[in-house]
Amino acid sequence: MTQHFIVIGNPIAHSKSPEIHEQFAVQAGIDISYQRQYCPDDTASFIAVVEAFFNGGGVGANVTVPFKQVAYDCCAARGGLSAHAKTAGAVNTLSINQAMLQQGASITEALYGDNTDGQGLINHINSLGWPLTGARVALIGAGGAARGVILPLIESGIGTLTIANRTVSKASNLVDELSTASETIGKHSIKTCATSELTGQFDIIINATSIGLSGDTLPLSEMLNCHYAYDMMYGRPLPFLQHFAARDAQTSEGYGMLIGQAALSFERWTGYQIDVATATETLRQNK
Ligand code: ATR
Repeated sequence: MTQHFIVIGNPIAHSKSPEIHEQFAVQAGIDISYQRQYCPDDTASFIAVVEAFFNGGGVGANVTVPFKQVAYDCCAARGGLSAHAKTAGAVNTLSINQAMLQQGASITEALYGDNTDGQGLINHINSLGWPLTGARVALIGAGGAARGVILPLIESGIGTLTIANRTVSKASNLVDELSTASETIGKHSIKTCATSELTGQFDIIINATSIGLSGDTLPLSEMLNCHYAYDMMYGRPLPFLQHFAARDAQTSEGYGMLIGQAALSFERWTGYQIDVATATETLRQNK
Protein backbone atom coordinates (compact mmCIF):
# COMPACT_ATOMS: atom_id res chain seq x y z
CA MET A 1 0.00 0.00 0.00
CA THR A 2 1.30 3.48 -0.89
CA GLN A 3 2.34 5.58 2.11
CA HIS A 4 1.67 9.30 1.69
CA PHE A 5 4.00 12.16 2.70
CA ILE A 6 4.15 15.91 2.02
CA VAL A 7 6.41 18.89 2.58
CA ILE A 8 4.51 22.05 3.52
CA GLY A 9 5.98 25.47 2.71
CA ASN A 10 5.57 28.83 1.01
CA PRO A 11 7.23 29.01 -1.47
CA ILE A 12 7.54 25.27 -2.06
CA ALA A 13 8.24 24.71 -5.79
CA HIS A 14 12.02 24.68 -5.20
CA SER A 15 11.90 21.98 -2.51
CA LYS A 16 14.19 19.01 -3.14
CA SER A 17 12.46 16.88 -0.50
CA PRO A 18 10.31 14.80 -2.94
CA GLU A 19 13.29 13.56 -4.98
CA ILE A 20 15.28 12.85 -1.79
CA HIS A 21 12.49 10.83 -0.16
CA GLU A 22 11.72 9.00 -3.40
CA GLN A 23 15.38 7.95 -3.50
CA PHE A 24 15.11 6.70 0.10
CA ALA A 25 11.95 4.75 -0.80
CA VAL A 26 13.79 3.04 -3.69
CA GLN A 27 16.54 2.09 -1.25
CA ALA A 28 14.03 0.82 1.34
CA GLY A 29 11.96 -0.98 -1.32
CA ILE A 30 8.68 0.62 -0.27
CA ASP A 31 5.97 2.41 -2.22
CA ILE A 32 5.54 6.08 -1.27
CA SER A 33 4.04 9.27 -2.64
CA TYR A 34 5.82 12.46 -1.47
CA GLN A 35 4.30 15.75 -2.69
CA ARG A 36 5.09 19.46 -2.36
CA GLN A 37 2.21 21.15 -0.52
CA TYR A 38 1.83 24.91 -0.96
CA CYS A 39 0.09 26.63 1.95
CA PRO A 40 -1.04 30.27 2.36
CA ASP A 41 1.11 32.04 4.95
CA ASP A 42 -1.27 32.06 7.94
CA THR A 43 -1.77 29.78 10.92
CA ALA A 44 -5.37 28.78 10.14
CA SER A 45 -4.40 27.61 6.64
CA PHE A 46 -1.44 25.64 8.00
CA ILE A 47 -3.64 23.86 10.54
CA ALA A 48 -6.27 23.13 7.87
CA VAL A 49 -3.66 21.63 5.54
CA VAL A 50 -2.13 19.49 8.28
CA GLU A 51 -5.48 18.24 9.57
CA ALA A 52 -6.74 17.39 6.08
CA PHE A 53 -3.53 15.52 5.28
CA PHE A 54 -3.38 13.39 8.43
CA ASN A 55 -7.15 12.78 8.60
CA GLY A 56 -6.87 11.56 5.00
CA GLY A 57 -4.39 8.86 6.03
CA GLY A 58 -1.09 10.74 5.55
CA VAL A 59 1.85 9.17 7.41
CA GLY A 60 4.26 12.08 7.81
CA ALA A 61 4.88 15.67 6.80
CA ASN A 62 7.95 17.86 6.61
CA VAL A 63 7.60 21.53 7.40
CA THR A 64 9.74 24.25 5.89
CA VAL A 65 9.88 28.07 5.75
CA PRO A 66 7.83 29.93 7.04
CA PHE A 67 5.90 27.33 9.07
CA LYS A 68 8.45 25.75 11.42
CA GLN A 69 7.43 27.92 14.41
CA VAL A 70 3.69 27.57 13.69
CA ALA A 71 4.17 23.81 13.56
CA TYR A 72 5.97 24.01 16.91
CA ASP A 73 3.05 25.86 18.55
CA CYS A 74 0.56 23.48 17.00
CA CYS A 75 2.34 20.35 18.35
CA ALA A 76 3.04 21.92 21.75
CA ALA A 77 -0.73 22.26 22.19
CA ARG A 78 -1.49 18.74 20.87
CA GLY A 79 0.58 15.54 20.70
CA GLY A 80 3.88 16.97 22.00
CA LEU A 81 7.42 17.79 20.95
CA SER A 82 10.73 15.92 20.91
CA ALA A 83 13.63 17.32 22.99
CA HIS A 84 15.29 18.49 19.78
CA ALA A 85 12.14 20.32 18.63
CA LYS A 86 11.81 21.93 22.08
CA THR A 87 15.32 23.38 22.10
CA ALA A 88 15.20 24.30 18.40
CA GLY A 89 11.90 26.13 19.02
CA ALA A 90 10.90 24.79 15.61
CA VAL A 91 9.45 21.64 14.02
CA ASN A 92 10.48 20.20 10.65
CA THR A 93 8.91 16.73 10.99
CA LEU A 94 5.29 15.97 11.80
CA SER A 95 3.82 12.59 12.65
CA ILE A 96 1.03 11.15 14.76
CA ASN A 97 1.73 10.20 18.38
CA GLN A 98 0.54 6.57 18.23
CA ALA A 99 0.47 6.15 22.02
CA MET A 100 -2.01 9.04 22.28
CA LEU A 101 -4.16 7.55 19.48
CA GLN A 102 -4.36 4.27 21.39
CA GLN A 103 -5.46 6.20 24.48
CA GLY A 104 -8.39 7.61 22.50
CA ALA A 105 -7.05 10.94 21.20
CA SER A 106 -8.16 12.00 17.72
CA ILE A 107 -5.58 12.14 14.92
CA THR A 108 -5.32 15.92 15.09
CA GLU A 109 -5.06 15.92 18.89
CA ALA A 110 -2.11 13.54 18.56
CA LEU A 111 -0.01 15.66 16.17
CA TYR A 112 3.65 15.25 17.21
CA GLY A 113 6.59 17.49 16.27
CA ASP A 114 10.27 16.64 15.90
CA ASN A 115 13.26 18.52 14.53
CA THR A 116 15.87 16.51 12.61
CA ASP A 117 17.90 19.45 11.23
CA GLY A 118 20.56 19.51 13.96
CA GLN A 119 21.04 15.75 14.11
CA GLY A 120 21.21 15.77 10.29
CA LEU A 121 24.22 18.09 10.59
CA ILE A 122 25.88 15.84 13.20
CA ASN A 123 25.33 12.73 11.08
CA HIS A 124 26.85 14.48 8.06
CA ILE A 125 29.89 15.67 10.03
CA ASN A 126 30.36 12.11 11.33
CA SER A 127 30.12 10.73 7.80
CA LEU A 128 32.83 13.18 6.72
CA GLY A 129 35.06 11.66 9.41
CA TRP A 130 35.50 14.99 11.23
CA PRO A 131 36.07 14.20 14.93
CA LEU A 132 33.43 15.74 17.20
CA THR A 133 34.41 14.15 20.53
CA GLY A 134 36.21 16.79 22.58
CA ALA A 135 36.30 19.18 19.59
CA ARG A 136 36.68 22.94 20.04
CA VAL A 137 33.67 24.18 18.07
CA ALA A 138 32.72 27.70 16.98
CA LEU A 139 29.20 28.29 15.72
CA ILE A 140 28.60 31.53 13.82
CA GLY A 141 25.01 32.80 13.92
CA ALA A 142 22.29 33.03 16.55
CA GLY A 143 19.10 32.68 14.49
CA GLY A 144 16.84 29.68 13.95
CA ALA A 145 19.44 27.60 12.11
CA ALA A 146 22.06 28.03 14.85
CA ARG A 147 19.56 27.39 17.63
CA GLY A 148 18.57 24.02 16.16
CA VAL A 149 22.10 22.60 16.20
CA ILE A 150 23.20 23.56 19.73
CA LEU A 151 21.68 20.58 21.62
CA PRO A 152 22.71 17.98 18.99
CA LEU A 153 26.27 19.41 19.01
CA ILE A 154 26.54 19.16 22.81
CA GLU A 155 24.99 15.66 22.78
CA SER A 156 27.62 14.59 20.23
CA GLY A 157 30.31 15.07 22.88
CA ILE A 158 32.09 18.22 21.70
CA GLY A 159 34.53 19.94 24.06
CA THR A 160 34.15 23.72 24.02
CA LEU A 161 31.44 25.70 22.24
CA THR A 162 31.72 29.37 21.28
CA ILE A 163 28.81 31.13 19.61
CA ALA A 164 29.69 34.23 17.57
CA ASN A 165 27.17 36.57 16.03
CA ARG A 166 26.97 40.01 14.39
CA THR A 167 24.60 41.01 17.21
CA VAL A 168 26.28 39.64 20.36
CA SER A 169 23.22 40.20 22.56
CA LYS A 170 21.24 37.75 20.40
CA ALA A 171 23.88 35.09 21.00
CA SER A 172 24.01 35.65 24.77
CA ASN A 173 20.21 35.76 25.05
CA LEU A 174 20.00 32.49 23.11
CA VAL A 175 22.53 30.81 25.41
CA ASP A 176 20.71 32.08 28.53
CA GLU A 177 17.36 30.85 27.22
CA LEU A 178 18.59 27.41 26.16
CA SER A 179 20.66 26.91 29.31
CA THR A 180 17.48 27.35 31.34
CA ALA A 181 15.34 25.23 29.02
CA SER A 182 17.71 22.26 28.67
CA GLU A 183 19.69 20.64 31.49
CA THR A 184 22.16 19.21 28.95
CA ILE A 185 22.86 22.67 27.54
CA GLY A 186 22.84 24.28 31.01
CA LYS A 187 25.66 21.98 32.15
CA HIS A 188 27.87 23.07 29.25
CA SER A 189 29.71 26.38 29.47
CA ILE A 190 29.17 28.25 26.21
CA LYS A 191 31.12 31.41 25.33
CA THR A 192 29.69 34.18 23.15
CA CYS A 193 31.36 36.98 21.18
CA ALA A 194 31.02 39.23 18.14
CA THR A 195 31.86 37.46 14.85
CA SER A 196 34.70 39.92 14.16
CA GLU A 197 36.17 39.10 17.60
CA LEU A 198 36.19 35.35 17.14
CA THR A 199 39.90 34.45 17.21
CA GLY A 200 42.18 31.50 17.93
CA GLN A 201 42.37 27.89 16.87
CA PHE A 202 39.22 25.78 16.59
CA ASP A 203 38.73 22.24 15.39
CA ILE A 204 35.41 22.92 13.63
CA ILE A 205 33.81 26.25 12.66
CA ILE A 206 30.20 26.12 11.45
CA ASN A 207 28.50 28.95 9.59
CA ALA A 208 24.81 28.99 10.58
CA THR A 209 24.11 32.54 9.40
CA SER A 210 21.96 33.35 6.38
CA ILE A 211 24.74 35.52 4.91
CA GLY A 212 25.28 33.18 1.95
CA LEU A 213 21.97 34.44 0.55
CA SER A 214 22.93 38.13 0.78
CA GLY A 215 26.24 38.32 -1.08
CA ASP A 216 27.89 39.92 2.00
CA THR A 217 30.90 38.30 3.65
CA LEU A 218 31.47 37.67 7.34
CA PRO A 219 34.10 39.86 9.07
CA LEU A 220 36.44 36.95 9.92
CA SER A 221 39.61 37.73 11.87
CA GLU A 222 43.04 36.95 10.42
CA MET A 223 43.71 35.32 13.81
CA LEU A 224 40.92 32.75 13.37
CA ASN A 225 41.85 29.24 12.22
CA CYS A 226 40.29 25.79 12.08
CA HIS A 227 40.87 22.27 10.80
CA TYR A 228 37.34 21.90 9.41
CA ALA A 229 34.87 24.52 8.16
CA TYR A 230 31.19 23.71 7.54
CA ASP A 231 28.62 25.99 5.90
CA MET A 232 24.99 25.00 6.41
CA MET A 233 24.16 26.63 3.05
CA TYR A 234 24.71 24.73 -0.20
CA GLY A 235 24.41 24.95 -3.94
CA ARG A 236 26.83 27.80 -4.79
CA PRO A 237 30.45 28.77 -4.06
CA LEU A 238 30.46 30.05 -0.49
CA PRO A 239 32.97 32.77 0.56
CA PHE A 240 33.07 31.35 4.10
CA LEU A 241 34.35 28.00 2.81
CA GLN A 242 36.72 29.64 0.31
CA HIS A 243 38.22 31.67 3.18
CA PHE A 244 39.08 28.57 5.23
CA ALA A 245 40.04 26.39 2.25
CA ALA A 246 42.72 29.01 1.51
CA ARG A 247 43.95 28.47 5.09
CA ASP A 248 44.27 24.70 4.53
CA ALA A 249 41.08 23.65 6.33
CA GLN A 250 38.89 20.82 5.05
CA THR A 251 35.48 22.23 4.06
CA SER A 252 31.93 21.10 3.42
CA GLU A 253 28.73 22.76 2.29
CA GLY A 254 25.40 21.72 3.80
CA TYR A 255 23.97 19.47 1.08
CA GLY A 256 24.73 16.39 3.18
CA MET A 257 22.90 17.98 6.13
CA LEU A 258 19.83 18.35 3.92
CA ILE A 259 19.97 14.64 3.06
CA GLY A 260 20.78 13.77 6.69
CA GLN A 261 17.76 15.56 8.14
CA ALA A 262 15.52 14.01 5.49
CA ALA A 263 16.88 10.52 6.26
CA LEU A 264 16.08 10.95 9.95
CA SER A 265 12.50 12.00 9.12
CA PHE A 266 12.11 9.03 6.78
CA GLU A 267 13.51 6.63 9.38
CA ARG A 268 11.16 7.93 12.07
CA TRP A 269 8.12 7.60 9.80
CA THR A 270 8.87 4.23 8.20
CA GLY A 271 11.35 2.47 10.51
CA TYR A 272 13.79 1.93 7.60
CA GLN A 273 17.45 2.83 8.18
CA ILE A 274 18.87 4.78 5.22
CA ASP A 275 22.40 4.42 3.87
CA VAL A 276 22.85 8.20 3.59
CA ALA A 277 26.22 8.13 1.81
CA THR A 278 24.82 5.93 -1.00
CA ALA A 279 21.62 8.00 -1.29
CA THR A 280 23.64 11.25 -1.40
CA GLU A 281 25.90 9.88 -4.14
CA THR A 282 22.91 8.82 -6.27
CA LEU A 283 21.17 12.16 -5.76
CA ARG A 284 24.33 14.11 -6.70
CA GLN A 285 24.64 12.06 -9.91
CA ASN A 286 20.98 12.72 -10.78
CA LYS A 287 21.27 16.50 -10.10
P1 ATR B 1 17.88 31.45 10.08
O1 ATR B 1 16.56 30.82 10.40
O2 ATR B 1 18.42 31.12 8.70
O3 ATR B 1 18.90 31.21 11.15
P2 ATR B 1 17.48 34.08 11.13
O4 ATR B 1 16.81 33.52 12.31
O5 ATR B 1 16.95 35.31 10.49
O6 ATR B 1 17.59 33.02 9.97
O7 ATR B 1 19.03 34.35 11.53
C1 ATR B 1 19.94 34.84 10.60
C2 ATR B 1 21.35 34.79 11.21
O8 ATR B 1 22.29 35.22 10.19
C3 ATR B 1 21.58 35.70 12.39
O9 ATR B 1 22.58 35.16 13.21
C4 ATR B 1 22.06 36.99 11.70
O10 ATR B 1 22.82 37.84 12.52
P3 ATR B 1 22.09 38.93 13.47
O11 ATR B 1 21.52 38.16 14.61
O12 ATR B 1 23.15 39.88 13.87
O13 ATR B 1 21.01 39.58 12.61
C5 ATR B 1 22.95 36.38 10.64
N1 ATR B 1 23.13 37.28 9.48
C6 ATR B 1 22.25 37.51 8.48
N2 ATR B 1 22.76 38.38 7.59
C7 ATR B 1 23.99 38.71 8.04
C8 ATR B 1 25.02 39.59 7.57
N3 ATR B 1 24.86 40.29 6.43
N4 ATR B 1 26.15 39.70 8.30
C9 ATR B 1 26.33 38.99 9.43
N5 ATR B 1 25.39 38.13 9.94
C10 ATR B 1 24.23 38.01 9.26
